Amino acid sequence: ASPLRLGIAGLGTVGTGTVKIIQKHAELLSARAGRPVTITAVSARDRMKNRDVDLSAYGWEADARDLAVRDDVDVFVELVGGDEGIAREAVTAALQAGKDVVTANKALLAIHGQELAELAEANGCVLRFEAAVAGGIPVIKTMTESLAGNEIRRVMGVMNGTCNYILTRMENAGLPYETVFEEARQLGYLEADPTLDVGGIDASHKLAILSSIAFGTRPAFGSVEIEGIERVSIDDIRRAADMGYRIKLLGVAQMTGRGLEQRMSPCLVPADSPLGQLQGGTNMVVIEGDSVGQIVLRGAGAGEGPTASAVMSDIVEIARGVRMPAFAQPATKLAKPIAARTAVP
Ligand code: NDP
Ligand code: HSE
Repeated sequence: ASPLRLGIAGLGTVGTGTVKIIQKHAELLSARAGRPVTITAVSARDRMKNRDVDLSAYGWEADARDLAVRDDVDVFVELVGGDEGIAREAVTAALQAGKDVVTANKALLAIHGQELAELAEANGCVLRFEAAVAGGIPVIKTMTESLAGNEIRRVMGVMNGTCNYILTRMENAGLPYETVFEEARQLGYLEADPTLDVGGIDASHKLAILSSIAFGTRPAFGSVEIEGIERVSIDDIRRAADMGYRIKLLGVAQMTGRGLEQRMSPCLVPADSPLGQLQGGTNMVVIEGDSVGQIVLRGAGAGEGPTASAVMSDIVEIARGVRMPAFAQPATKLAKPIAARTAVP
């Protein structure tokens, strides 16, 4: 069978992780995909940077937009990040050129997902983003495929590894914010702009993506009520612990008679509950469906291996020939959400 040829833009935490899996598991991936998965060329800012991975067999494009439209690329893999600039331009160019796209970029999808999904459909392309929500946890595929027979009632969870890492390390090790923040950076958890993490923005991007899939609405990041963890102090954490609680940055989305409620904020959860037990960069997503009841997904929400694992799941799915709409139903059929500004109970 003909190989699936990738162009990978972005060779940071997630990009190098993806290249490493393709190199390490070439035979396994070929067997699972039914065809070889190969890399044609890669792109990043600095060609000379040591990335701890051998890139000598691949072509190099200085501009990701050129990589996106190469004739010898079937799938453009966008692992640069950012909701504007090179990521948006390259993904748009790839879709316009009829290329399938895999991305881990939740900011791009939460803000421009509707336009990109429509562009993908107009050009007969697939746009997949398993890694964009909750890192290694297969939450998108669970919602779009495994729970396709359910009306989703509610989606909630801890969806930012950085915040969970900071909150748990501050409590467990009694370390100051600055120290645990630096640890999170070393683990590859942070966004290029870490205020997106601690400000609750990154988790809200993810919530908006999940809401769209769950409730059949256009991604509506602008209507998420957001409060980050910047004002959570070590004293708050200690007082909560004294009462048997932990503080978690919790996202909740549900459809009510008044419209779509989406809220992201620090919440008290019982210390001995599954959410209270979440440590480090772990994420947890709870989905409630009318037939299935409650599903709880838990796993590494950030970092090189877990995120690259999710990217690979999309690549293998495309190699197998699965052609799925980005948000589980045709983008043109997604409803305009009416935002309910009432607090979620
Ligand atoms: P990094 O900052 O580690 O890597 C970004 C890469 O993009 C670098 O290789 C950088 O090049 C390249 N890049 C930046 N600007 C440009 C540009 N203008 N042109 C070409 N290349 C550019 O990011 P991550 O790997 O952490 O994140 C990538 C994406 O994955 C983001 O969308 C992020 O939100 C998402 N994500 C990240 C997770 C994580 O745990 N880190 C988890 C889930 C999603 P150079 O190396 O030369 O500077
Ligand atoms: N910065 C993000 C986090 C990466 O900490 O969860 C995973 O999306």
